[in-house]
Amino acid sequence: MKIAFVGKGGSGKTTLSSLFVRYLAAWRVPVTAVDADINQHLGVALGLAEEEAAALPALGARLPLIKDYLRGDNPRILSAETMIKTTPPGAGSRLLRLSEENPVFAACARTVRLSEGSARLLVTGPFTADDLGVACYHSKTGAVELCLNHLVDGRDEYLVVDMTAGSDSFASGLFTRFDVTFLVTEPTRKGVSVYRQYRSYARDFGVRVQVVGNKVQGPEDEAFLRAEIGDDLLVTLGHSDWVRALERGDERPFASLEPATATALRAMRLASDAAYPERDWERYTQQMVHFHLKNAASWGNDRTGADLAAQVDPGFVLRETPSPQPA
Ligand SMILES: Nc1ncnc2c1ncn2[C@@H]1O[C@H](COP(=O)(O)OP(=O)(O)OP(=O)(O)O)[C@@H](O)[C@H]1O
Ligand SMILES: [Mg+2]
Repeated sequence: MKIAFVGKGGSGKTTLSSLFVRYLAAWRVPVTAVDADINQHLGVALGLAEEEAAALPALGARLPLIKDYLRGDNPRILSAETMIKTTPPGAGSRLLRLSEENPVFAACARTVRLSEGSARLLVTGPFTADDLGVACYHSKTGAVELCLNHLVDGRDEYLVVDMTAGSDSFASGLFTRFDVTFLVTEPTRKGVSVYRQYRSYARDFGVRVQVVGNKVQGPEDEAFLRAEIGDDLLVTLGHSDWVRALERGDERPFASLEPATATALRAMRLASDAAYPERDWERYTQQMVHFHLKNAASWGNDRTGADLAAQVDPGFVLRETPSPQPA
């Protein structure tokens, strides 16, 4: 299951992604966390020291390796240089499975031990001024999009991505790559306007946005969100003393999380699981082709000097297939 946490800066995306990762890990569900946010804080929110988090290998810096691996011997993709972030897989491409070891995860993923269970963590690496708002070649989230477009994940394994609601994810198809998109918002007009903007992009692509209200302090906050958001409001959370203690460096056992926060996390897991039957691999594949053709025409063909539309394998549909059986 692919789950995104998006929202306005400071709304609590990293906090909620990390709590959701901890929740799944505590249930011993395989979980891979991806930090694709402008502010790279997920590692620290998962309990790494600042130096450990800063030393994590950046996906953005390993694009050549990622492209070379995913390309495999797909005859439509002539070189890693002509592979852009939206280049879709086809016959001959290598696909990624969350439960396997492969050169991409070996180079980029690290296991983080949590107070209960563990998670795998991938990070895009820090964003620079040049990364903001760029649609094209160097986009930091391009590595994440490529991996998602080559990922055949199953029902009981999770990939949780902490990311911004910025223009980057709309220019590419990144925002369409998730089974569930949790939009985190505080009970403020700004937060709600980010939700409306996200929803207006998402609706045309059949992307369902579920809102998680954060830092909700009482019935007036709750009523405001309910009135502004209606049925898309999944759940609300208040202030968490557990999170606050963690921020002071006092990591308490996950089992001591406030019941209200735990209940909200459970609702998020149920919402994720309920999305599984809605999966449509054909639509998922068609959308990656749609965004690839759009990116090819707007900058990719010029940049690479190749006709990137020819990379599309018309007969290919990404789908969940059983891993090969050992001989
Ligand atoms: N429910 C909560 N209870 C207590 N503190 C919270 C809660 N949610 C968020 N915070 C605190 O609010 C601050 C901002 O949260 P967080 O870093 O998760 O937001 P973000 O959306 O990821 O921000 P950025 O856009 O900077 O990445 C952090 O200090 C975090 O600990
Ligand atoms: Mg953050």
